[in-house]
Amino acid sequence: MDRFLIHGGTPLEGAILVSGSKNSALPAIAACLLTGETVTLDRVPQVRDIRTMLDLIRHTGAEVSQEEGRVTIQAREIAHPEAPYDLVKTMRASSLVLGPLVARCGVARVSLPGGCAIGARPINLHVSALEHLGAELRQEHGYIEARAPGGLRGAEIHFDRITVTGTEDVLMAAVLANGETVIDNAAREPEVVDLARLLVAMGASIDGAGSSTIRVRGAAKLSGTRGAAHSIIADRIETGTFLIAGALTRGDLLITDCDPGHLRALIAKLHQAGAEVTEPSPDSLRVRAPRKLSSVDITTEEHPGFATELQAQFMALMTAAEGISFITETIFENRFMHAQELARMGANIRIEGRQALVAGPTPLSGAQVIASDLRASASLVLAGLAAHGETVIDRVYHIDRGYEKIEAKLAGAGARIRRLS
Ligand code: EPZ
Repeated sequence: MDRFLIHGGTPLEGAILVSGSKNSALPAIAACLLTGETVTLDRVPQVRDIRTMLDLIRHTGAEVSQEEGRVTIQAREIAHPEAPYDLVKTMRASSLVLGPLVARCGVARVSLPGGCAIGARPINLHVSALEHLGAELRQEHGYIEARAPGGLRGAEIHFDRITVTGTEDVLMAAVLANGETVIDNAAREPEVVDLARLLVAMGASIDGAGSSTIRVRGAAKLSGTRGAAHSIIADRIETGTFLIAGALTRGDLLITDCDPGHLRALIAKLHQAGAEVTEPSPDSLRVRAPRKLSSVDITTEEHPGFATELQAQFMALMTAAEGISFITETIFENRFMHAQELARMGANIRIEGRQALVAGPTPLSGAQVIASDLRASASLVLAGLAAHGETVIDRVYHIDRGYEKIEAKLAGAGARIRRLS
């Protein structure tokens, strides 16, 4: 198992380039199952979750080719409309194929994901939305089996709770349903908008993506991307991780090829904490921070609120801020696993239910720590970069799920970080 060895205390300086979004590329790859024609995607990050999703697509019988960030998929025939347990257990986003498979094939078999480190994460909302579209679903032997032999039909769907992949799953099903679908209380994340942009390029008719009501007029067939390629948006969570890294190490970091508009909530909190964040161009951000940072409270929310995927990294930053910051996690019930590891590095954190109280500033010192999930690992890398002495992070396979070449990118900005294989 790979580990990271970090010698902390060096400010990050220079420029760092952002990759394509993992959480946008995952549904985009699933969307390729909606057509027999070729779909070409650009700027697909080369991370482990994407490899898993491509394995899943190959498993259905589709042809997949990949060259650097370009992925070409043709699902001419779908021989196996199923997502087996072995793939789903390593990546919950596999449930994104449920909607496209039942819409295209009239049948789908997708393993239930089971629990994960950050919470229970059920898919009941995906299931009930697909039932509204006329699919019959039943659960057997750990699998969801969906059937819609006569095809799906448009319907009004109201999500009781905002779900990102649930919105994406049902959006992909609705584009091939007969008639109009209205998705109410839809997720407004930029990844949903990017998926809608791809589906429209494939011939779908969709209005309102990015708002909480999405209207879809179903079509009998979708096409491929027809000579053009769909370029995946910049990874806003990777961007945010680097912004926080720049502030925490008191560096001067230019982050390029990103979309500042997707990070307004984080940028506002960084300003409140005393960091200087500017936009030298429409697709770049520059971050600098004074020695003295102030504590800031955050509450995670659906987009455009403060992203839960940046909570762990912000907690690392707050260990360096003066005062007590209240960090409230409202999306997932168990997303504080990093707190104990940060405490081993010298942080003063108390967890009370869904709230973490961080009292700072506490100087961090390098230690041996264990990564427990994707974003928790990112927060430990950031803490290691700021700590004095040596930090060894175990189980970095978690970080490899979602950050492309993170150690090379950070090393390019002056970090002393090395992978131990
Ligand atoms: C997506 O997960 C992202 N994953 C997550 O990013 C992100 O943290 C999360 O949205 C929240 O923004 C991908 O896009 C691949 P949800 P998703 O359905 O869609 C509950 C990362 O770090 N819920 O929006 O699985 C659920 O338990 C990852 O990159 C139900 O109760 O999250 C949670 O409390 C991790 N029933 C809340 O809704 C359902 O059927 C929001 O979850 C579905 C969800």
